[in-house]
Amino acid sequence: MNLILNVWRQAGPKAPGKFERLEAKDISDHASFLEMLDIVNERLEEKGERPIAFEHDCREGICGACGVVISGTPHGPHKATTTCQLHMRSFKDGDELWIEPWRATAFPVLKDLIVDRSAFDRIMQAGGYVSVNTGNAPDGNAIPIGKDVAAKAMDAAACIGCGACVAACPNASAMLFVSAKVSQLGLLPQGQPERYDRVNAMVAQMDQEGFGSCTNHGACQNACPKEIGVNFIAMLNRDLRSSILCPSPKPKPSTGEGA
Ligand code: SF4
Ligand code: FES
Repeated sequence: MNLILNVWRQAGPKAPGKFERLEAKDISDHASFLEMLDIVNERLEEKGERPIAFEHDCREGICGACGVVISGTPHGPHKATTTCQLHMRSFKDGDELWIEPWRATAFPVLKDLIVDRSAFDRIMQAGGYVSVNTGNAPDGNAIPIGKDVAAKAMDAAACIGCGACVAACPNASAMLFVSAKVSQLGLLPQGQPERYDRVNAMVAQMDQEGFGSCTNHGACQNACPKEIGVNFIAMLNRDLRSSILCPSPKPKPSTGEGA
């Protein structure tokens, strides 16, 4: 298939950016979206031109690195699909695509399609951990956890930190990401000792990073390649309220009800 690509080109963080029109000719239907960009880059390099900078690592939908906005939709047209798992058979011969980086003040563009997502790392550093001695492997498995709670914690843990939720949100809010990370630990017994300090610290860091507020728009949930639901935002809000109303003693472990 042959496609026309309008790709965001920006030489560096302070450089002005603009869309560049490129041709992607003779692309196999079976190529992934990133393989298509690889082919375009090889041809640019053969001509002595600068290849398109884009981020990737696993190419298996695991690492969260590869996100770009494709014709207005983060990660492209398919639900629950990362850019690296998107295949060119999802497009038609002759299609014209617009490919650009996440747009958010807290995710400054580094180069072309690559943004700096270290704001997410700093939110995790603020509270996305448990301070306990985990012991050896058998100790870790000795804590009984109900199936429903474990399943909900796993749903939250599916977040790969890609940032599509921020890119999709008209407020550039990071609430879906933060709620997934807060809930993943807040649902489990290991996460209880720091549960309320954690939610306060992570939300404070989120605000400090310049992400916008959640206004229940719901676009984050639609864009998320791991189908993280806004029910986790409700859980985060409940924990935040609880941390203000009853900071001590710490409430009992959550049963996961309503999450
Ligand atoms: S909540 Fe979904 S869209 Fe947001 S960072 Fe996690 S996986 Fe990506
Ligand atoms: S490259 Fe890792 S999720 Fe796409």
